[in-house]
Amino acid sequence: MSDSSTPEVPVRLPGSGSEPTAPPPSVDDVTGLLRAVVDPELGADIVELGMVRRVDVRPSGDVRVEVALTIAGCPLRAQIRSDVVNRLESHNGVRSVQVDWGEMTSEQRSDVMARARRKAADNAPDTEVPAATRVLAVASGKGGVGKSSVTVNVAAALASRGLTVGVLDADIWGFSVPRMLGVEDRLVAHEGKIHPIEKKVGGGLLKIVSTGLIVEAEETALMWRGLMLTKAVEQFLRDVRWGGMDYLLVDLPPGTGDVQMGLSRLLPRAEMIIVTTPALAAQKVAIRAADMARRSYLRVVGVIENMTAFTCEHGTTYELFGSGGGGALAHDVGVALLGQVPMETAVAAGGDNGEPVAIAGTSPAAEAFCAIADLLIAQAAPPFDAASCTATA
Ligand SMILES: Nc1ncnc2c1ncn2[C@@H]1O[C@H](COP(=O)(O)OP(=O)(O)OP(=O)(O)O)[C@@H](O)[C@H]1O
Ligand SMILES: [Mg+2]
Repeated sequence: MSDSSTPEVPVRLPGSGSEPTAPPPSVDDVTGLLRAVVDPELGADIVELGMVRRVDVRPSGDVRVEVALTIAGCPLRAQIRSDVVNRLESHNGVRSVQVDWGEMTSEQRSDVMARARRKAADNAPDTEVPAATRVLAVASGKGGVGKSSVTVNVAAALASRGLTVGVLDADIWGFSVPRMLGVEDRLVAHEGKIHPIEKKVGGGLLKIVSTGLIVEAEETALMWRGLMLTKAVEQFLRDVRWGGMDYLLVDLPPGTGDVQMGLSRLLPRAEMIIVTTPALAAQKVAIRAADMARRSYLRVVGVIENMTAFTCEHGTTYELFGSGGGGALAHDVGVALLGQVPMETAVAAGGDNGEPVAIAGTSPAAEAFCAIADLLIAQAAPPFDAASCTATA
């Protein structure tokens, strides 16, 4: 990544030509003024984010500022520039302002993202999700690629290792988690909080919440009245008594809309898993999910390719949805390919009868889901002593 600067023509301030009416600002004064310039995407000021590289003030009142952008073609460049000029203009000792652009290296960029994430976490409203819970949101660019199947299977595989795993079905109107996990109990509210439905899996536990489990009973109905899509996730995170959880998996609706943005505002520490099919064409759509994650500075943990080649009972393999899409997407986003889950009737059947293949079967798809769960566990220190999962036992 280039680190070069692109100078711009100095902006003459109103009344230019005449001398400033006050002594020039100090470098600290300029830095202080620049603290009011907020990067609209990252939600923090450019000084705090470390984007102000250099400040140069001449005795004449000519100020030169170098701002490092996350990417050279940053669409917010014009806005940042005019904000910088407007802020510095407010100082009577400034005669002209020149903004030079720099581009961050990938290390600087990830450092800035980490700072923005910390800042968002400081400002995020309280939720009922414990701070120690690892939140993994499962997203995709388009529908039907297997987000819900991935969510329930990875959740079940994690629980089969003795962990407590929340499953939040954030697909408010298109919910499928209850059916896929075979739960029918209704959510009930108690003392103003909704209690998740619990399901034991091996030595672990699933805690499930979905609009598909809402009953119009008095207190519950009251709590959900006026539920709107954009508010739904907030209610799920704030009004559900989740209790202790090692993981919270969030099944997102398809696409890159309000629910995703709401989640990033409420749980900025959430990490995202992107599901895609092996079709190379699907990658263009899937990359939108990664773009959305980047815009809301969520960390992308990796890509899962689902519906990878189908192998029939005679051992012949058919690449029904093409090949290479997952690897190509992971490469483009710069993250790991967490796994490839083959196309298998057992996955669909497990989803239909409420018994996720990851814990009910030993097929290659079951093994793939369990391997993904193990990979996720391995990412988090300290190492976890994994109990057996049917597929890998
Ligand atoms: N690896 C697989 N092999 C066979 N069938 C699969 C596989 N993965 C998912 N399916 C089936 O494909 C269909 C779509 O999967 P799923 O509902 O998980 O996708 P989704 O991305 O959550 O969809 P939506 O965007 O509608 O929420 C389901 O019927 C599911 O059982
Ligand atoms: Mg779904």
